[in-house]
Amino acid sequence: MDDAELLRQAGRIVQEAGARLEDRDRAAQVRAKGPTDFVTAVDTEVQERIRARLQALDGTIQFMAEEKDNASIDPARPVWILDPVDGTTNLIHGFRHSAISLALAEGERVRLGLVYDPFAGELFAARRGGGAFCNGRPIHTSAAGRLSDSLCSVGTNPGRREEAGTAFARARRVYDRCHDIRRIGAASVELCYTACGRLDAYMEHGLKPWDYAAGGLILTEAGGRLTAWDGTPPSLYAANCAILATNGRVHEELLALV
Ligand code: IPD
Ligand code: CA
Ligand code: CA
Repeated sequence: MDDAELLRQAGRIVQEAGARLEDRDRAAQVRAKGPTDFVTAVDTEVQERIRARLQALDGTIQFMAEEKDNASIDPARPVWILDPVDGTTNLIHGFRHSAISLALAEGERVRLGLVYDPFAGELFAARRGGGAFCNGRPIHTSAAGRLSDSLCSVGTNPGRREEAGTAFARARRVYDRCHDIRRIGAASVELCYTACGRLDAYMEHGLKPWDYAAGGLILTEAGGRLTAWDGTPPSLYAANCAILATNGRVHEELLALV
């Protein structure tokens, strides 16, 4: 199966699984993995459903996902990278901004990206070299050329409270120079909003591959730029990645601030 067909089929799979994010009873079944890190019955069910469907689609592709042990994954070979619910804290609170994020990667190269937000009914999709789309329509990053004309999303990384002081000081530096800052609470959605021009930039530290692999490809295929905070290409399997995602035009200005 070629990548265009894999993207179509995987898009159907995430859309079908997306209905489960509306199940408030299952979202109320919460287990804490850490003081601010949660998993619900929706996360595990969506993950298992998508795993089974992808396995049936092509059993040779490995499967990495947030709510499983990924120790046996060989990143050099093709691997699906799934976040079954990106924005679990939003889901628990009924704050309707969460998505399923699914990428297909091989080494550091992300081949396909899908982010499905069932609350907005939006499926963002990209194939490397094939452009980026929302519900089938091409999307592009914004035209803002200066930070002073920009709306920026600043991630808070709730898992790393010990860094909150420097993180909020950084957010203040950005806030002082742009129209305003936002925070959605789902990295994949923030990347896609930057890809389609609703945001001009998004930054967050401490991200995992399932948070940004799909959204990162969608962003770059839409004309945006994605780097680590030192300006180098982000390494997909770095322990905790600090990401700067922009329309490309305000990237250097923001790199100087983060
Ligand atoms: C989280 C969300 C959140 C970000 C965290 C992620 P999860 O993913 O993307 O916006 O701040 O760093 O871990 O836990 O809801 O899948
Ligand atoms: Ca996530
Ligand atoms: Ca998750």
